[in-house]
Amino acid sequence: MKVLVTGGAGYIGSHTAKRLAEHGHTPITFDNLSTGHRALARFGPLVVGDVTDPAALDAAISAHRPEAIVHFAALSQVGESMQRPELYFRNNVGGTVALVEAALRGRIGTFVFSSTAATYGIPSHVPILETQAVQPINPYGESKLACEMLLRSASAAHGLSCTALRYFNAAGADPGGLIGEAHDPETHAIPLLLMAAAGKRAGFAIFGDDYDTPDGTCIRDYLHVTDLAEAHVRALTLSGAARFEAINLGTGHGQSVRELVDAARAVTGRDFRVEARPRRAGDPPSLVADAGKALDLLGWKAEHSSLDHIMRTAWDWTNAPANPLHNRG
Ligand code: UFG
Repeated sequence: MKVLVTGGAGYIGSHTAKRLAEHGHTPITFDNLSTGHRALARFGPLVVGDVTDPAALDAAISAHRPEAIVHFAALSQVGESMQRPELYFRNNVGGTVALVEAALRGRIGTFVFSSTAATYGIPSHVPILETQAVQPINPYGESKLACEMLLRSASAAHGLSCTALRYFNAAGADPGGLIGEAHDPETHAIPLLLMAAAGKRAGFAIFGDDYDTPDGTCIRDYLHVTDLAEAHVRALTLSGAARFEAINLGTGHGQSVRELVDAARAVTGRDFRVEARPRRAGDPPSLVADAGKALDLLGWKAEHSSLDHIMRTAWDWTNAPANPLHNRG
């Protein structure tokens, strides 16, 4: 199957493109390269274009005739979204509107959407089921929830088949050393820890050690990006017109920031300075998925997401020559 992968030059997009190719599909990457990297778009054709540009989308669709869309292209920094909410609504919601319209013009009926656990906000219960109330606490989460609402309505109105995959914490890298996470600026805990281990940063700050958790630091459900990629390929096989599903992707197990620090030190064999700082605004104490729906509907569960494997592959990528940020301090 030919699959249009918007944001295919980004972190999760590039891993999904690789997995699609491994399953015999043809990923067509559509990416404006604003946060993605040309070097990560290596598993099929690359079309450089912006997802908010209807003409660019139409041109890509008529040139390549994809049968399905996997939509990653979006801005994803929570902090930035608090400063510039309009940017998040224009890019994330505007881009999804333009893409749905282009899908309808191009008669593409299958849509897989990159959503997030940020749609839940501060959960009333952990592990989180998809039936729990969605109450995002930042514009990033709001923009993703707005996209989900559009997809739900568009699937009913136009007979599309839409799946929104709500990721918990994506982490790790493909073991081949050619693709991985390359955000600039980087805000995520695991790459920041490993940059500290590599001597590229002075140390690591734990954002809050006074939470109501066993060791006082926040708990997250870290999922290897290879597992995440596989779930997208499976979601493409969910069929049925006028169908919308939101599905959590996580392991069902949480790890604290202190456990990440210990794992980073163990895997790298390096010590580095760690200090507790005040809490970061908007961080819920604990986010862990109930991943039962993914097992039921996709036959999917995490298989590569031990913290050791996540940390090992992320460490290899930190030092990989192919990493676009490799030579930066
Ligand atoms: N953390 C630190 N120090 C750092 C960076 C992070 O202690 O320097 C902590 C955070 O406070 C949090 C945990 O490490 O408790 C994980 O933080 P990340 O920034 O790696 O990830 P988040 O859980 O904040 O964010 C992720 C995705 C977002 C998504 C969110 C909720 O990156 O896109 O999950 O689903 F919105």
